[in-house]
Amino acid sequence: MPETILTARTDRVLTITLNRPEALNALSSTMMREVVEAVTTADADPGIGAVVITGSERAFAAGADIKEMVGLGLADVLEQDLAAAWQALDLIRTPLVAAVAGYALGGGCELAMLCDVLVAAEDARFGQPEITLATIPGIGGSQRLTRAIGKAKAMDLVLTGRMMDAAEAERSGLVSRVVPADQLAEVAAEVAATIASMSRPVTHLAKAAVNRAFETPLSEGVRFERTAFHATFALEDRVEGMRAFTEKRPPAFRHR
Ligand code: CAA
Repeated sequence: MPETILTARTDRVLTITLNRPEALNALSSTMMREVVEAVTTADADPGIGAVVITGSERAFAAGADIKEMVGLGLADVLEQDLAAAWQALDLIRTPLVAAVAGYALGGGCELAMLCDVLVAAEDARFGQPEITLATIPGIGGSQRLTRAIGKAKAMDLVLTGRMMDAAEAERSGLVSRVVPADQLAEVAAEVAATIASMSRPVTHLAKAAVNRAFETPLSEGVRFERTAFHATFALEDRVEGMRAFTEKRPPAFRHR
């Protein structure tokens, strides 16, 4: 039984709720292990088409667990390869939806950025305040934030430690939707259910194609996309999708 997360399954969507309210969902090593394990298990389950990761009303997550790190020295962090296990989320094919209310700071912001679709409540606040602790982001924040919102804003956040509100996060391209706090769970569930209603292997290809944009020059990314696009023509779901369109009926995908 996990200690730091709650999980709930509805049809084809798994929802993972970070659950350390006493620590504003600080990402302890136990939580890292439990989140990674739950997401990895879901990714291997053909019955799951999308995963929602969320926190509480007050905090998505206020960062890596500072109390766990305070006594560590360089030899410890090198030995543990501190925070490296989060990297497993980068290999997940299933689309991940982050539903963010309250604080998403440090590792919390980085966990949200490891997700594919970010939905924020109006009261969400994002930041990389590690500099105020005399350290720097360690779960990809300096890289993913810069790619998401550009050098100027990323430098501002990473060097001053200030938080940005949901409106600024949407304006900057970090999140795709901002909704009233009381609608966050519903909207995130709808987004996830919509993704999960598509052909699962095609969502994997689509996610991989968009992610390629972060890793390769344009010409290589476009070549990757075309190969993935062509690959969809080998799937019965692609035949069904196009046939259903021409027959003016909803598609009945086999792989969903
Ligand atoms: N680690 C451990 N405990 C944390 C925590 C964290 N990142 N963030 C909050 N908590 C704990 C607090 O210590 C407090 O516990 P106690 O009641 O036992 O003292 C409890 O959660 C509530 O927090 P506050 O009393 O501080 O609540 P607040 O409303 O006054 O402030 C906050 C909220 C502004 C988010 C503040 O808690 C805060 O600044 N938290 C730390 C944010 C931060 O620096 N995050 C980066 C962490 S480093 C990192 O993430 C590195 C990396 O990339 C891998």
